[in-house]
Amino acid sequence: MVDVDEFIEEAKAEIAEEIGDKHAVIGLSGGVDSSTAAALAYEAIGDQLTAVYVDTGLMRKGETDEIRETFDYMDSLRIVEAQDRFLDELAGETDPEEKRHIIGEQFIREFETVAREVDADYLVQGTIYPDRIESEGTIKSHHNVGGLPERIDFEGIVEPMRDLYKDEVREVARALDLEEIISERMPFPGPGLAVRIIGEVTEEKLEVAREANHVVEEELEEYEPWQALAAVIGKATGVKGDNRVHGWVVAVRSVESRDGMTARAQELDWDTLQRMQSRITGAHENVARVVYDVTHKPPATIEYE
Ligand code: XMP
Repeated sequence: MVDVDEFIEEAKAEIAEEIGDKHAVIGLSGGVDSSTAAALAYEAIGDQLTAVYVDTGLMRKGETDEIRETFDYMDSLRIVEAQDRFLDELAGETDPEEKRHIIGEQFIREFETVAREVDADYLVQGTIYPDRIESEGTIKSHHNVGGLPERIDFEGIVEPMRDLYKDEVREVARALDLEEIISERMPFPGPGLAVRIIGEVTEEKLEVAREANHVVEEELEEYEPWQALAAVIGKATGVKGDNRVHGWVVAVRSVESRDGMTARAQELDWDTLQRMQSRITGAHENVARVVYDVTHKPPATIEYE
């Protein structure tokens, strides 16, 4: 990207030209990519854009409220409350790729309902360069609204940020005055906390994962990691009060990276690690221990599933 203002003007012109006087939809995930694409598209075509945010119940703490506040200025923002439907669909499923598939499918179903309702001709997506590279390979099935074009006959798909890297997207987000909480927020996977829970997604594991991720984001902000997360990875024995418990093991992971394709585990100081341990074990009666993941990518991936 040469110059951020130039990029914005060109992207807006491209969006406006492609969409003309038609109607477009975009899926807002809460992450920086889709938020930036939505803000760009809204500047280009205003209320001809419907931004759809599906609350899957797999979001980070406070995320839905932040979206509501940040995009309050868009009259056409739609928030779909789909938490129960996602949990029902995921019940009993333990296979990582199946979980992704179920979430992707349900997401498309929810999104499709709105896209048909508003009679959208175009789909805008916040796809960035590394997404294209990873989905060309067979590393993981990246989803989001990827399957939609087969189900709805859109006239076209607009991907204004297809050639950008993450750090460039952040520059654009800042230039568009997106709230810092969004422009500086760490990447978060489309399937949300579901890939930070090994095995079946249950309400209790979700509660633990949501609180633990919140603690990690807060405690590690000063380290400026590319991504930091907590995952519920299994069960182990612990003692809480006078009792032995068979409780959750939470893994904390913090990595440096440019684009997520490779990553280095971050070195953290002991006090920080201990503070996270104490807050996470204290956050839920069934958390038995906290471990820190020192594995780079490769060989590990960033997420746990
Ligand atoms: P991994 O775990 O493959 O992650 O090292 C690389 C980057 O991609 C994100 N990620 C996903 N993003 N859908 C997404 O939209 C997914 O299914 C998915 N899986 C991983 C991950 O958070 C990291 O930034």
